Amino acid sequence: MGQHDFSGQSAVVTGSSRGIGAAIAVELARCGARLTLTGRDNAALTDVARAVETASGIRPAVVVCDLREARTARMVVDAAMTAHGRLDILVNNAGATKRGDFLTLTDADFLDGFALKFHGAVRMTQAAWPHLVTSQGKLVNIVGIGSLTPAKDFTIGGPVNSALINFTKAIADRGLSDGVRVNAVNPGHIVTDRLRRRVEALAKAEGITYAEAEERSRHEHGILRFGSSEEIAHLVAFLCSDRATYIHGSTIEIDGGATKGL
Ligand SMILES: NC(=O)c1ccc[n+]([C@@H]2O[C@H](COP(=O)([O-])OP(=O)(O)OC[C@H]3O[C@@H](n4cnc5c(N)ncnc54)[C@H](OP(=O)(O)O)[C@@H]3O)[C@@H](O)[C@H]2O)c1
Repeated sequence: MGQHDFSGQSAVVTGSSRGIGAAIAVELARCGARLTLTGRDNAALTDVARAVETASGIRPAVVVCDLREARTARMVVDAAMTAHGRLDILVNNAGATKRGDFLTLTDADFLDGFALKFHGAVRMTQAAWPHLVTSQGKLVNIVGIGSLTPAKDFTIGGPVNSALINFTKAIADRGLSDGVRVNAVNPGHIVTDRLRRRVEALAKAEGITYAEAEERSRHEHGILRFGSSEEIAHLVAFLCSDRATYIHGSTIEIDGGATKGL
């Protein structure tokens, strides 16, 4: 059993086939929640589904889908309702925005970044909202510290994340009257496939080892270490718990001190 009790509650975590989303799904399951998992990679989802079932003893619903497609959100929410009969927690986590030299990024790259992380989250929220109102549930958006600190090689992810923080605040205000608690989490540099790929690319570009690239990257970001997906998952579980009922409309950085500004 995890630190919180979500027995009888149902949770949807988008982008839960790996990384931060998979860790959140397993942590919520450890706390007794019934899960609905989403992603495009069926094999990876099967592995996470097994871990979730081991954690809670309850088989999760799994929806293999591309959240950039407009019709997908309703499909995911319908699957959660069919499997578990209710919806108490929505975690909008799925996201993948291309980094790189601004002048090499295409129109399609920008549209793609917004399609998944921004529009995907907005559509999921719209589809889930009536059920969250019924359960007086919780919504957590996984965003990223690029929302606060713009960077020249992150001209898609930064604006997408800032837009999602703005949306979080707006929908949190609605949540006050509708009885849905809404917050956002801003991870810093968390060890997942995405971060490993970035360190690998730096090592290759500079002709240094992976360990040297990791050290250089930590130094550049002004942090002592990278974070883990489990650390993000613990924060999300806390935010969804009864210990956090006065936290509403907040964006919480969990970045090992990477954000230096106010
Ligand atoms: N890792 C970090 O350092 C960091 C820092 C700040 C913010 N974040 C944010 O945290 C979230 C999770 O990041 P992560 O590092 O765990 O990423 P990740 O390891 O790349 O996982 C991304 C998840 O999103 C899913 N996804 C990607 N494209 C999708 C699509 N078109 N339709 C449906 N699902 C899709 C992936 O599943 P499939 O591939 O199976 O589709 C996967 O489950 C993202 O929103 C990211 O921006 C991460």
